[in-house]
Amino acid sequence: MIKASAPGKVHLIGEHSVVYGEPAIIAAIGKRIWVEAEKHPTKIVIRDRILSVKAEWMVNECIDVAMQAKAMWMHGFDEENFSKLFRFIKEGRNFKKVAIGLILHRLNINEGANLNVYGDVPNGSGLGSSSALAVALTKAISELYEKELTNDEINKIGLDIEKMMHGTPSGGDNSASTFGGLIWFQKDERGRPRIESLKQEIPFELENFVLTYIKKPANSTGELVSMVRNLDPTIREPRVKAIGQAAIDMRKALREKDFARVKQLINLTWSNLSELGLSIPEADVVIKKIGDIGGAAKLCGACGGGIMLAYHEDKKALKKVIRDAGYSPFETELGAEGARIEKPQV
Ligand code: MEV
Repeated sequence: MIKASAPGKVHLIGEHSVVYGEPAIIAAIGKRIWVEAEKHPTKIVIRDRILSVKAEWMVNECIDVAMQAKAMWMHGFDEENFSKLFRFIKEGRNFKKVAIGLILHRLNINEGANLNVYGDVPNGSGLGSSSALAVALTKAISELYEKELTNDEINKIGLDIEKMMHGTPSGGDNSASTFGGLIWFQKDERGRPRIESLKQEIPFELENFVLTYIKKPANSTGELVSMVRNLDPTIREPRVKAIGQAAIDMRKALREKDFARVKQLINLTWSNLSELGLSIPEADVVIKKIGDIGGAAKLCGACGGGIMLAYHEDKKALKKVIRDAGYSPFETELGAEGARIEKPQV
């Protein structure tokens, strides 16, 4: 039996603007998805303990569905509208089937697997659950069939899977899940990823960052990315640029441990994300309260709900404000290990 895992992620800064070629700083977090895999001659038998579902598909069926999704993606890309694909994935509950079909197709595998999926990355919350699952599945299945993929190859398959879920993702989420740590992520003009580890530059532990789940987003990441893309460019572009510049400034501020500046940059980012229509009233209320005690906060990932990232030098006071507002703050490692094979327990 093979057991692989990959972490979720949190954007310290740069969500949404990263889709347009601006940089982002993304941390792999101490919450992961695990996939246990054993060979099966003809079928994919998947038990997903996160969603409490079990399914069985023939290998060919997975590959066929993945090819259908790929065709819908290409059509969606040409039409600049992925709604048909999103319906196919969401309403058809086809994400795992498509993901596995893509992996089998890319790796030229015609056999199946028994897959057991579990983990603690909350679904649809801005913590990269889909990319952690995509990367963990890729790592597990490739290892099971001795394909010896490099991290770059795993990351490329992870991105292909993310495209089915999100249309035109930046590739930042899957890169954080694959490579782990704290990364600087940016796409060049041709869409190629530039991934830099910030380990040397920011070797210390990031303290006083607190996460809080606010509310289930009403829209998926793909829908929220499309919503921003459909905004008038005169609204979108200056805000995307401002968040990009804030990411550049944040890198310097983190390097210099200038946390007063880090807070300013989180707040500046949040006003720009809000102006792009990515806030919800519940987040406005609690973020204002955090601002009132001298802290900073923003929603993460696709926003529109999900997880809030907050910072304050006085972590106790920060947690109290969040609790008093009716939420449960939590902490997690920022800069966790990327995709890995778990050693068998002795
Ligand atoms: C989603 O976690 C982050 C977004 O920037 C989309 C992406 O980068 O693909 C909203």
